[in-house]
Amino acid sequence: MEIPHILIEKLASAKHVAVLTGAGVSAESGIKTFRDPDGLWAQFNPAELASMDGFMSNPDLVWSWYQHRREIVAESKPNPGHYAIAEMQNLFEKFTLITQNVDRLHQSAGSKQVLELHGNIIENHCVRCKKDFVGETTLPDGQLPKCSYCGGMIRPSVVWFGEMLPADTLLAAENASNQCDFFFTVGTSGEVYPAANLPIVAKRHGAYVVEVNPNRTSISHSMDCCLSAPSGVALPLILNEFKKYRNQKS
Ligand code: OAD
Repeated sequence: MEIPHILIEKLASAKHVAVLTGAGVSAESGIKTFRDPDGLWAQFNPAELASMDGFMSNPDLVWSWYQHRREIVAESKPNPGHYAIAEMQNLFEKFTLITQNVDRLHQSAGSKQVLELHGNIIENHCVRCKKDFVGETTLPDGQLPKCSYCGGMIRPSVVWFGEMLPADTLLAAENASNQCDFFFTVGTSGEVYPAANLPIVAKRHGAYVVEVNPNRTSISHSMDCCLSAPSGVALPLILNEFKKYRNQKS
């Protein structure tokens, strides 16, 4: 695939690069996305599995689904897309990584200070007192874990439908989107707000905005450039071209 020259020029002159990622970045690591034809929401009901009401009406079902997803995540490894994003933090004066993903593969690839908009699937906390839960989650006879402070029910530390995003994280993501001069939106359908608004905010504040996604999305029309390719292919290629350009200039 061809990377437009203008994209490399803009990237080379950027002082602050921001990246927003979604489930598509982890697709090449074998983790299913949500809204693709074979995605999780084609098979499962988000109201049952990813909402507080769903959890309260059937905690066993919700726990077994998250434990299954955790097993898949535990067996998966970062792919070239994650590694290219991790490398970016060393290439620019300022760099911000914002993710909707809960799988922590960015951190496994070496990314630091990742803004996790939707929490993570690794940790748990108490529904009642909100304290982190660090005990064993797989108990005999299918029992569910209970909070050691207040006895409340324990839930995965992901953000569910109808819940607020962590305020500090969202603010940091919005500030980066306001201030950056180059913004990548990678592997997200742009269907879920407020994340989907971040590339639009960046564009409004003058950033050059690039989408990396094999498919068109609901925000494609607002982009300066759309690269129709898997992120594990497009991102390493962009970095290669960027480094060649930078070496020629120096
Ligand atoms: P979606 O499943 O909505 O979108 C995934 C996007 O990844 C699609 O646009 C695909 O075309 C694209 N894609 C697939 N394979 C790709 C690849 N190899 N490289 C690049 N892109 C690829 O996932 P998200 O946009 O992340 O929320 O969904 C947003 C939120 O909705 C998720 O964080 C989750 C979900 O409900 C929570 O869990 C709170």
